[in-house]
Amino acid sequence: MAGKIVAVDDNEINLKVVSTTLEQAGYEVTTVTNGAEALPLISKMLPDVVILDISMPIMDGYEVCSKIRESKKTSHIPVMMLTAHNALDDKIKGFDAGADDYLTKPFQPAELQARIAVLMRRSSQRTTKADTTVEKHAKTISVFSLRGGVGVSAIAANIAAGISQVWGKNVALVDLSMAAGQAALLLNMSLRNTWLDLAHIPSDDLDKDVVDAVMLKSENGVHVLAAPRKVADGQLITPVAAGKVIEIIKEMYDYVVLDLASDFSDLTLQGLDQSDMILAVLSPELASVRATIAALDVFGDLGYKENKDIVLVLNRTFEAGILPRKNIEKALKQPIQIFIPYASQAFIDSINFGVPIVLSEEGGELVGIFEDIGFLLSKDTDRATPPKEPTPAYRSVMTRFEQRNQRR
Ligand SMILES: Nc1ncnc2c1ncn2[C@@H]1O[C@H](COP(=O)(O)OP(=O)(O)OP(=O)(O)O)[C@@H](O)[C@H]1O
Ligand SMILES: [Mg+2]
Repeated sequence: MAGKIVAVDDNEINLKVVSTTLEQAGYEVTTVTNGAEALPLISKMLPDVVILDISMPIMDGYEVCSKIRESKKTSHIPVMMLTAHNALDDKIKGFDAGADDYLTKPFQPAELQARIAVLMRRSSQRTTKADTTVEKHAKTISVFSLRGGVGVSAIAANIAAGISQVWGKNVALVDLSMAAGQAALLLNMSLRNTWLDLAHIPSDDLDKDVVDAVMLKSENGVHVLAAPRKVADGQLITPVAAGKVIEIIKEMYDYVVLDLASDFSDLTLQGLDQSDMILAVLSPELASVRATIAALDVFGDLGYKENKDIVLVLNRTFEAGILPRKNIEKALKQPIQIFIPYASQAFIDSINFGVPIVLSEEGGELVGIFEDIGFLLSKDTDRATPPKEPTPAYRSVMTRFEQRNQRR
């Protein structure tokens, strides 16, 4: 099996030795003489293996290796450190930076070829593994605000129902707002089973069957894990157990929506940690904007900005006296991606009748808005391939997109 290799060394003679040795073994080798140039090349070429010299000017091998590991696109690529250093310290530093192997110069050509063959095998395993996990892996979307009452639960329920409508698949809606949980209420489900039923089960005994038995299933495609009836019972669910349950739910559904409490409790953090995407909901007033700035700061500290999609949702929960969008975006230093209009009657009806707006006949323009949002938040892989048997919601989303494109 031929493979692509990028070799980085400031010494051109060394580079020549490496490339000749590996080309003899049938590999395609691209050489670069400094780390700063190597990074864009690696992220463009996505080679099967990278070979790095350690001491180089501008950017040394450790730094290049860390950068390769930091980027989602390249983090899976095996890296071999190739160097004159033979000290244990250097080796540890190399592995700390995320190197997979370490070879000291001078080396025997056969040894380099053999070690590269091992890394190549690892590379192909990693790609196939990554490919299958991307497809199988549930997309988990958290809906969150540090300030209560801005519509988090309503949006979570409508997004879950919207995604379910668009793809015709069951979607899990997990209520993690234990003290004031309303997810089941919003879907008119009786609280036959709740998180409380899972609280007394030892963590090792939690599995798909157990979790499936406590999910409330409605015919509209949303399956809810409801918050306990009594506020005090919410405390019986430990963050560790909740984490395990969420992991199990992720294996059972393609999409998981989390309705989070407006705090940074351990339970909330557990939910955020497990999410691919966080919808930060705010309303157009000062206190909500402030709370969102604070939340975005925490997301930054937790490293979420690097590994999760953070999407701002402006929900107009009141009619008059709203802050202009521009001012809000300036304060947040980030554009708002989703807007939900003021619609008090639709939201009140939806609570009273226990039907998410996106599913109701009286929802008006909000039906389309939540279908579109459901589609836009779906996995790239789902959006890229039109379904064989498109649902009515999918067709409406496509029709609206076409109409908008024509108007442009
Ligand atoms: N776009 C909107 N227009 C009008 N009313 C809205 C809108 N969005 C939400 N509401 C109303 O705002 C209230 C709060 O909504 P919701 O309970 O979903 O918020 P929350 O952030 O989950 O609150 P909590 O902090 O209590 O969990 C509800 O009465 C809901 O109907
Ligand atoms: Mg709520």
